[in-house]
Amino acid sequence: MAQKVNLVSLASGYWQSFAIGAALDLGIFSEIAQHKQDSESLCKTLKCAPAHLTALLNSLCGMGLLVKQDGLYDLDPEQRPFLDPDSPESMLGAFAFNQDLAGLWMKLPDCVRSGKPVLPDNPHLGNDPDRTRRFVEGMHSRAGLMARNLLPCLHPPQHSKILDVGGGPGTFSLKLAERDPSLQITVLDLPPVVAAAAEIHAGKAALASITFLGGDYHHSDFPQELDYILYCGALHQEPDQGLDALFTKMLTALKPGGQLVVVDLMLDEDRCTPVYSALFDLNMMLMRPSSKVHSSTMLQTRLQKLGFKNLKCADIPETPYRRVQAEA
Ligand SMILES: C[S@@+](CC[C@H](N)C(=O)[O-])C[C@H]1O[C@@H](n2cnc3c(N)ncnc32)[C@H](O)[C@@H]1O
Repeated sequence: MAQKVNLVSLASGYWQSFAIGAALDLGIFSEIAQHKQDSESLCKTLKCAPAHLTALLNSLCGMGLLVKQDGLYDLDPEQRPFLDPDSPESMLGAFAFNQDLAGLWMKLPDCVRSGKPVLPDNPHLGNDPDRTRRFVEGMHSRAGLMARNLLPCLHPPQHSKILDVGGGPGTFSLKLAERDPSLQITVLDLPPVVAAAAEIHAGKAALASITFLGGDYHHSDFPQELDYILYCGALHQEPDQGLDALFTKMLTALKPGGQLVVVDLMLDEDRCTPVYSALFDLNMMLMRPSSKVHSSTMLQTRLQKLGFKNLKCADIPETPYRRVQAEA
């Protein structure tokens, strides 16, 4: 009988993640992105032990990130856009942020025992400028890849007045503005995040359609008469308490017929699947005392009770994200 789960792979799943982290730390992807090369020349440039670097390179080949031909290592052509640091879709920033979290996962038993996060505060949200910058870059690089699949699901009408709530680096807003310069978009996020975002995008033409607004979305006033609100990747930071007030504020800010689009990792009603979302719930618990990955069914029920209409829910293709859309 075929086994439902591969226990050995599951139990050693962190090996692959640590191999990616080591490759990142050693500069393997950046070096190979410039030109394919053999292990000997990589050893010299990266100052590594030959047999050990070769073992790591071979594992990365086995994982499908690199290819080896006639002794030369290259980025796998399908993965190149995401592994080349100079590519606009590079994921290396997101990987670096992910590595920042690896140490927290070692403390998962403490977190589960105590019911408390293992981080003292939210360092990526403003207390430590370097970490905030890495967080914003990580979000930007994650958003770059996700935009391929998300943007075709977003259809704000021309000349829409849009609010991107918890917009972070504003990557989706920038892409929306590049697609349709008639849009008028405000990206609202915490002041240190907005400052880092403005730095990352300095000089880009699409900024002409965008205003960055520093504030707290629970307490700051929203622009009014909006056609469209995007609330992407921030719902999982919010416990149930406070959500009714936040969504009511969004409903009030939208024109009748305006659209709210919530995009995030969401769970099925049993809260066990999709497994990536269930694990992400743990990931958030390690960092924040009050985070929660919400169920898409509960979210729709909540929005309907508050007065939103015409609810729709769909997975964002080829990503672990889900979209709940509702009309004011
Ligand atoms: C995971 S990020 C998503 C960013 C962006 N929407 C995206 O999908 O790329 C969540 C964002 O919500 C922001 N955020 C969290 N709490 C906030 C609050 N109370 N007010 C404003 N922004 C907040 C964080 O700073 C962060 O940039």
